[in-house]
Amino acid sequence: MLKKKKQYVVAVVGATGAVGNEMIAILEQRNFPAEKLRLFASERSIGKSLDFHGKPISIELLAEDVFEGIDIALFSAGGDRSRQFAPAAAKAGCVVIDNSSAWRMDPQVPLVVPEVNPMDIMSHKGIIANPNCSTIQMVVVLKPIHDAATIKRVVVTTFQSVSGTGKKAMDELMQQTTDLLNFKKSNPVVYPHQIAFNCLPHIDQFLDGGYTKEEIKMVNETKKILGDDSVKVTATTVRVPVFRSHAEAINIETEKKLSADDARAVLSAAPGIIVFDAPEKNIYPLPTLSDGKDEVYVGRVRNDDTIENGLNLWIAADNLRKGAALNAVQIAETLIKQSK
Ligand SMILES: NC(=O)c1ccc[n+]([C@@H]2O[C@H](COP(=O)([O-])OP(=O)(O)OC[C@H]3O[C@@H](n4cnc5c(N)ncnc54)[C@H](OP(=O)(O)O)[C@@H]3O)[C@@H](O)[C@H]2O)c1
Repeated sequence: MLKKKKQYVVAVVGATGAVGNEMIAILEQRNFPAEKLRLFASERSIGKSLDFHGKPISIELLAEDVFEGIDIALFSAGGDRSRQFAPAAAKAGCVVIDNSSAWRMDPQVPLVVPEVNPMDIMSHKGIIANPNCSTIQMVVVLKPIHDAATIKRVVVTTFQSVSGTGKKAMDELMQQTTDLLNFKKSNPVVYPHQIAFNCLPHIDQFLDGGYTKEEIKMVNETKKILGDDSVKVTATTVRVPVFRSHAEAINIETEKKLSADDARAVLSAAPGIIVFDAPEKNIYPLPTLSDGKDEVYVGRVRNDDTIENGLNLWIAADNLRKGAALNAVQIAETLIKQSK
């Protein structure tokens, strides 16, 4: 349990990665009450430093015995590191907020989006899981609709940026685009196919039944966060040649009728959402719009007249911020508010 203090010793594990970098920036931007920030990564990063509030902080090597005296650790160094080091951190009295998928579906570990299920944080036993990026932005929007009209079924197709795979994938998109525009051949390394000027219906591994792990994460995590197993979700996840921000086309079937106008009103009043919906003026969410922003943008809200109570909408959010680092920092802020 976190003891209430004026300031906390905070760690970022995976500090040199795409999400880790964003975590440091967000802790700084939100003036997080950090008495001290410690940064951890692999031996590849030893000797490097990163700035926090204008001062350089040396990268330390991640090990099981480093967590003594750390109050909160934000983990974003991949599932293997989370599985190995998060229990040691929790044992040392540190609260881990983990970005990987390692602990998300563990019944002992709360899976939290602060706009949706902040009270679940209180049941933590040392580890709190941050959901998958595509799930986070979807549930922020589903929650107010579920409260207003009870969602029966969701059909979602995602358009996910390469930053969701990390720094190497961002470099690959940049390199392939440059190579192809210069009539050079470019070999895919991070993805199984060329990502520049392409769309890959393949995120994470394929599982039995033909779905990918990313698609199944969206199904299972949505139910856990909403605390409602009856919500049916089916997903198709697609990687697109965008650097940052994921977009999603979502079809929702509800028990009670909620018109597009009612849905816009409900969404406008909900936390963490900006309704950006005036298609006659070409106003609708775009990855370039949500890039660097904190909110989930919602637009193209329409009645789906092919079913009795149906809605279609289109959303965009920054996967590195709300989809990862910001959500983790918001969990830490909520944890502090709830601490005694
Ligand atoms: N990108 C997203 O939108 C997103 C969203 C939600 C969750 N996540 C999750 O967040 C995690 C990191 O993602 P990312 O996109 O930031 O990846 P990334 O850019 O590849 O960064 C990986 C980070 O992990 C560190 N690391 C790797 N192996 C390590 C080891 N053996 N010991 C210590 N540190 C090690 C790296 O340190 P070095 O620089 O020293 O190698 C680097 O800081 C993943 O679990 C991912 O699933 C990512």
